[in-house]
Amino acid sequence: MPFYHVLGEIPRVKHTTFYKSDGKGLYREELVSSKGFSGIYSNLYHHHLPSATQEIQKISIAGPKTLDEAPIVYTHCDTDKDPHGGDYIHSREKLLENTQCSISTAKVTQNSEVFYRNARASELIFVHHGSGVLKSSYGANPFGPGDQIVVPKGTIYSMDFDDFDNNKLLIVESRSAFEIPKHFRNEYGQLNEDAPYCERDFRPPEFMEPIDKKGNFKLIVKMDAQFSEHILPNHPFDVVGWDGYLYPFTFNIKDYHPKVGRIHLPPPVHLLYTTDAFVICNFVPRPFDFHEAAIPAPYFHNNVDSDEVLYYLDGDFMSRKGVSAGSLTWHPGGIPHGPQPGRTEASVGVERTDEYAFMIDTFEPLKPTVKVQECQDDNYPKSWL
Ligand SMILES: [Fe+2]
Repeated sequence: MPFYHVLGEIPRVKHTTFYKSDGKGLYREELVSSKGFSGIYSNLYHHHLPSATQEIQKISIAGPKTLDEAPIVYTHCDTDKDPHGGDYIHSREKLLENTQCSISTAKVTQNSEVFYRNARASELIFVHHGSGVLKSSYGANPFGPGDQIVVPKGTIYSMDFDDFDNNKLLIVESRSAFEIPKHFRNEYGQLNEDAPYCERDFRPPEFMEPIDKKGNFKLIVKMDAQFSEHILPNHPFDVVGWDGYLYPFTFNIKDYHPKVGRIHLPPPVHLLYTTDAFVICNFVPRPFDFHEAAIPAPYFHNNVDSDEVLYYLDGDFMSRKGVSAGSLTWHPGGIPHGPQPGRTEASVGVERTDEYAFMIDTFEPLKPTVKVQECQDDNYPKSWL
């Protein structure tokens, strides 16, 4: 998405004959486009028909039940408490959702031969712990701790992990695309000099040899809350080449260049991506505000139009007491929140922070699942007393 990319072999002119070198006919062109035919797109060239499917059946993948009544309380939960494990598909445990997005965590304990396609949502996969490679029709996206992989809606992919000592993912699903904020780009689409990252910080897929293989390849397709299993007669990574703007890409949180001010700057300075329904921010180590009387901890704030979710990655988070790596806090919109008692005073005179955190601010209220109930800290709502 950040820029045009091309991999492998493509014809000089699109939508024209592109014959296989062994004389076995045409490669099959697939246009993957967004917003009808008006958004970003890519053209992929397959060995076989991308729609070829032998069998389709509805399956059930049970996840934590969403509670209809959202309790309006401050929430802190330990997302590392009693994860059920599994492969990169079945280990996902949903914590929060609304009609536009969902937030899950996953402790991945095994690899899998199964492919996955989220047909209704783009995914941002934050790799908290673990390393491996995400493979898709577009190529290979190697990943490690701190990587944030955006997988566009409709992409067939798989994830292989190097080992199973400690793999932890945070996954945000979104009905609309993860976009670079418009004000980070100039009128030509290039990232501005004062944006918190530049084109060099994004890692597009690496070339992967096309796999021209027949078999019975299992693909799980997710359509909102419904899952189906498709058996494909051809390996889905049979692409000889592609070009365009739509593809999985990776950005590591350590490559985010923070902005600092003389007095406290609000969260939009930590912006990473926007969608139609929420924003994503990256909090990274940085010098604190430099006014002689600055208070680095945030002032109390009441975002009447958004729910705020923070996932804590590493370091000491200056405004929160009792949170640690793997903690998630959820502060519903319309009620104020801020530093716990003592944190404001303690922040005065501190010169820098070593915190890493990931934030999601949604414009529509979220609802919790039973997983939140199971891992929440019951004392947190009264932690400001
Ligand atoms: Fe906040």
